[in-house]
Amino acid sequence: MGQQKRIKQLLQQNNATLIAHYYTDPEIQSLAEATGGCVADSLEMARFGRDSKAEILIVAGVKFMGETAKILSPNKKILVADLEATCSLDIGCPVDEFSKFCDQYPDRIVVVYANTSAEVKARADWVVTSAIALDIVRALHAEGKKIIWGPDRHLGNYIAEQTGADMVLWQGQCIVHDEFKADSLRLCREQHPNALVLVHPESPAQVVEQADFVGSTSQIIKFAQSSDVDQFIVATDRGIFYKMQQLMPDKTFIIAPTAGESATCKSCAMCPWMAMNTLDKIQNILESYTNEITVPEEIRIQAEIGINRMLDFSATRSINIKASGDLSKDQALFNQIGPA
Ligand code: 13P
Ligand code: SF4
Repeated sequence: MGQQKRIKQLLQQNNATLIAHYYTDPEIQSLAEATGGCVADSLEMARFGRDSKAEILIVAGVKFMGETAKILSPNKKILVADLEATCSLDIGCPVDEFSKFCDQYPDRIVVVYANTSAEVKARADWVVTSAIALDIVRALHAEGKKIIWGPDRHLGNYIAEQTGADMVLWQGQCIVHDEFKADSLRLCREQHPNALVLVHPESPAQVVEQADFVGSTSQIIKFAQSSDVDQFIVATDRGIFYKMQQLMPDKTFIIAPTAGESATCKSCAMCPWMAMNTLDKIQNILESYTNEITVPEEIRIQAEIGINRMLDFSATRSINIKASGDLSKDQALFNQIGPA
């Protein structure tokens, strides 16, 4: 029996479902689709896991995604392909130091990105993903709230600039998006003058400034689908190309340039932790029930508050995606795109 078939059988036998992020290997994404699981951004992964009837969730992504699933579904078993698969934003934001940072600003509310540990989420008032961060901060700013933001400094700067909110920022970064280079992107645009530039907001400001569209992974995909342009330069993990190519076989996607080639490149637009997800490991955890994610109950209860605020907010609002750059002709698209 082929491996895909075997995993499908194991998923059925165990009443398990596979929830994969767009950055995982195409084989994993196609298996998730073929077995009634989901392939999504981190916001939708959280929603899908919470609403799933399965008893076991196999989360193919990184540790914080598994923890989010556990926080929202304490009665489900959450298994991950590799417990070492983490995220530079999570690593760069230890809870003790972050908590001390927050203590310096008692008059501010704490908004953290989902790419954090359960403990950091428990310290926060709000948890957000890139699909909804802008809308939530805009709403908080409208209520006169001042904000502590962590951990991604590029996303924090982008949100502060777009919303005008008063934000103090933790100085973390994603090692994948931080590698996109503004100068090389300028050259790339000259070589592909008809292409639109799509950028994930974890990228540096000089890269975001060149974007025709800025958004989360799912928003980038939806934008490309809705656009009548057929060439795109994309600044995010190249794993997203599987879904883009599948949905838009006649369009061309070019990866935005990173710092160097092969040995001189730190990430080559591929998250090393996402790459730790393999079919072999998924088969193994389904056969051995290993790699279970656990979250201490007092942390889980506290962390759930900020995540539920985000989910409730997203359920009651349509998400307006903010563009940067000269996009007036595509402005109407933003309103059509709707919730991520
Ligand atoms: P999304 O929320 O857009 O899926 O991003 C998660 C992530 O880790 C981006 O690097
Ligand atoms: Fe974290 Fe960046 Fe990897 Fe996303 S791509 S999981 S932000 S290191």
